[in-house]
Amino acid sequence: MSLKKIVVLFSGEGTNLENIIKKLHKKSFGLDNYEIVAGITNKKEANGIQICKRYDIPFYIIEHKNYPSREEFDTKLVETINSLNPHLSVLAGFMRILTPIFTKNIKAINLHPSLLPLFRGKNAIEKSFHSDMKVGGVSVHYVSDELDGGEIILQECFKKEENETLQSFTKKVKSLEYKLLPQAIIKILGE
Ligand code: GRF
Repeated sequence: MSLKKIVVLFSGEGTNLENIIKKLHKKSFGLDNYEIVAGITNKKEANGIQICKRYDIPFYIIEHKNYPSREEFDTKLVETINSLNPHLSVLAGFMRILTPIFTKNIKAINLHPSLLPLFRGKNAIEKSFHSDMKVGGVSVHYVSDELDGGEIILQECFKKEENETLQSFTKKVKSLEYKLLPQAIIKILGE
């Protein structure tokens, strides 16, 4: 048995964080035991902090507004992550543009609520819903220098119904996220 350590970065609700904890934390896959060793957030009001507390996961609040530049913020993130020595960092709703200081030093994946390379950046769910595409989707990709642009690890789509509302569309995105992100983590850590 070997221990596979995961760090999760989040900025908001943390529903994907909770999903990963429920599905992977202290569970075995193949010959490995998975552990979420810490959560990191850039927002002290992020609900994900309550989730960390509930599941007894250590967490770090590193507020970007306390750093004069993106590079200095990223340096602190990198130091914190490296001190935890994880096998993988997972961005689950972490709303910051990262500089090469982060992307060149940390092995990380990101969850994005669209079929990349379409609808990169913010408000991807709304953009994808309002587009004339007949499908929506979710992507998990490696974090690179390019925003939402790294190599795609897993990606899946679903049908946009004629009577689809933004609410029902968002629900489909979320449930696909809850399926794909744990799968992507297991895929990478199992390699
Ligand atoms: C997800 O939709 C993810 O795709 C995007 O941010 C959202 C985070 O949601 N990057 P939650 O905080 O996990 O509920």
